[in-house]
Amino acid sequence: MDSRVRSYQEAFSPYWHPVAFSHELKERPLAARLLETELVVWRTGTGVAATQRYCAHRGADLCAGHVTEEGLRCGFHGWTYGRDGRCVRVPSQPGVPIPARAVISSFHAVERYGLIWVCLAPEPAAALPEWPELEDGSVATVPLPRLDWNISAGRMIEVVLDVAHLSWVHEGTFGNPQQQEVLPYEVERGPGGVRARISYPALGPSVGGQPPKVDRTSLTYDVFLPFAARLAFKPTLFYAHTVYAIASPWSEEKMQCFYFASYHPRLRNHFPDMFVKSELAILEQDRVIAEAQRPLAHPLDFTSEVHVRADRLPLEYRRGVIAIRSGQAVEPPIPD
Ligand code: FES
Ligand SMILES: [Fe+2]
Repeated sequence: MDSRVRSYQEAFSPYWHPVAFSHELKERPLAARLLETELVVWRTGTGVAATQRYCAHRGADLCAGHVTEEGLRCGFHGWTYGRDGRCVRVPSQPGVPIPARAVISSFHAVERYGLIWVCLAPEPAAALPEWPELEDGSVATVPLPRLDWNISAGRMIEVVLDVAHLSWVHEGTFGNPQQQEVLPYEVERGPGGVRARISYPALGPSVGGQPPKVDRTSLTYDVFLPFAARLAFKPTLFYAHTVYAIASPWSEEKMQCFYFASYHPRLRNHFPDMFVKSELAILEQDRVIAEAQRPLAHPLDFTSEVHVRADRLPLEYRRGVIAIRSGQAVEPPIPD
């Protein structure tokens, strides 16, 4: 890895990022955006495809076109593109060779974990996150609406990993204002991410005018660089569930987050509604704080902000992101 600071787009293009939930991509082509690139994604007979959004002929929006057996057909003059971006049909002149320049950029696309993932670079630098529980039939999942926030993808994941904010930002949902101290916790570094486990005395909802009960909850954080986090909640009173947050960068200062939970299928009648309602309230508390952080861009050096011991997990995560951006391993400062 050469050590120079890459542009944001160059640094993160070689990674897989989600651009849509599977359930959003139906028979019509769908607009998507990733790292300042306008895309159209669609279903082929055998999988999914992602190409540039605008037609090579006259720049028409291919999202307004149709998917045919041959590929994606533009609505303006019917030119049709295969999943490799090559034009395979120019209806105005049948029997004539198709111009060599009648091609649009195409990208790697794959459907997994209920998401459509795209990698913009010719060679992906890392595999997709490994979440085997989502594919062995042992859990059900429930998505939230996409979170469209004015915040960088790195800052978003740091919010998810932030241990010290729980008792402050989440007062009234599950935060416990009595628990201000963050007890020391270990962070494991792996080749592609970081992992930590904490115990938190969450407050359950107050029922029937009773004061809320403390629900001692074990939280296991598991991050796949650059922008995917899995967070397993094992409460004592509430249902065990796991939350997945994958921030998909639109630009250095803006992302969309694909957020969903997995839970035991036996809870199918209870869990999804409760999760969506309570999680949206929790995330709204985060959004108010997060969108107002400055700078919007995820800081590239450690000295621009101050770190304490409680920040060890987001700090180790930031180390990984900076390493990708700068092309070299970096040691985080020892927190005060
Ligand atoms: S602009 Fe797409 S076919 Fe002409
Ligand atoms: Fe939060």
